[in-house]
Amino acid sequence: MILVTGATGSTGRQLVSQLRERGAAFRALVRDEAKGRALGAEYAVGDFEDRASLAAAMDGVERVFLASPGAQAEAPGGEQPMIRWERNAIDAAKAAGVRYVVKLSVLDAKVGGPMSAGGHGATEAYLKESGMEWTMLQPGGFMQNFLDPAASLADEDGNLLGTAEDARVAFIDCYDIAACAAVLLTGEVGRGAALPLTGPEAISYQEVAAELTRAWGRPVGYRVVSEEAIAKRLRGFGLEAGLAEELASLYAGIGEGRYSAVTDAVRDLTGRGPRSFEQFMAAHPEAFPGLAIRD
Ligand SMILES: NC(=O)c1ccc[n+]([C@@H]2O[C@H](COP(=O)([O-])OP(=O)(O)OC[C@H]3O[C@@H](n4cnc5c(N)ncnc54)[C@H](OP(=O)(O)O)[C@@H]3O)[C@@H](O)[C@H]2O)c1
Repeated sequence: MILVTGATGSTGRQLVSQLRERGAAFRALVRDEAKGRALGAEYAVGDFEDRASLAAAMDGVERVFLASPGAQAEAPGGEQPMIRWERNAIDAAKAAGVRYVVKLSVLDAKVGGPMSAGGHGATEAYLKESGMEWTMLQPGGFMQNFLDPAASLADEDGNLLGTAEDARVAFIDCYDIAACAAVLLTGEVGRGAALPLTGPEAISYQEVAAELTRAWGRPVGYRVVSEEAIAKRLRGFGLEAGLAEELASLYAGIGEGRYSAVTDAVRDLTGRGPRSFEQFMAAHPEAFPGLAIRD
């Protein structure tokens, strides 16, 4: 039995349908009963904050997909909630006799790193010390970040923002992260590996803006601004100052090419290449109505 946490999220949802296609025995962890019913699969209602619910959800489980939301503002003087949540899940898994955990992490995860990199670094270290077998999936940027225009970092006119003219990211479709997780959770390969996962190419924000222009049916540009201007824009969205600065420095890292290296990990694990940005958009016609009009 496999337990899929984060089962209603961008990656978990895809994993649920891919495990179903494979005929694998799995259970989805959901916070909301109605969302569980909508998945059309076995589910357990639980919360990363509620250790008893995690213990119940892990009953009879041998393998776990661990995915939680990324970095959020920390409680004053405390650590990021995601660290506590993932530790709770790792503790519950170990206590239940789980043998193997596939953890959705992030590229460059490291203890003491900023934001998600630090949060995932801490939980990667905790998982490694647990004695259970593990695989870390380390994607850079998700294509899914562009599904919601309101969630994209943009100026008042809807133009994407970045700190360098030729900022490139090897964005990956969560469909491919899920495909890797499905292979790992239903097979015996990949134990003890940290796998940087990417799409097929590093695409520039200029190219993304051009794709979004036709997909959203309105002009989307790309504007180069300073790291401080990005932090200010993020604070304007209501982000807490420290988090805004860390996220802005992540954008500066993108400008320096930190997320542009392409790996073969998806092909190596699944036997096929990862989806391109165009294929990703074609798989989400509801979010990109302009494609249907033009094609
Ligand atoms: N976005 C990126 O570019 C990117 C890049 C690299 C790595 N990552 C990492 O990917 C992870 C997010 O993955 P994702 O985008 O697939 O997920 P997601 O869409 O953000 O969804 C989060 C999932 O966690 C569940 N959840 C939230 N709070 C919970 C709680 N207290 N207890 C139990 N479940 C809870 C949500 O359930 P509900 O439906 O109930 O809310 C949902 O299923 C993060 O760790 C992030 O650091 C993201």
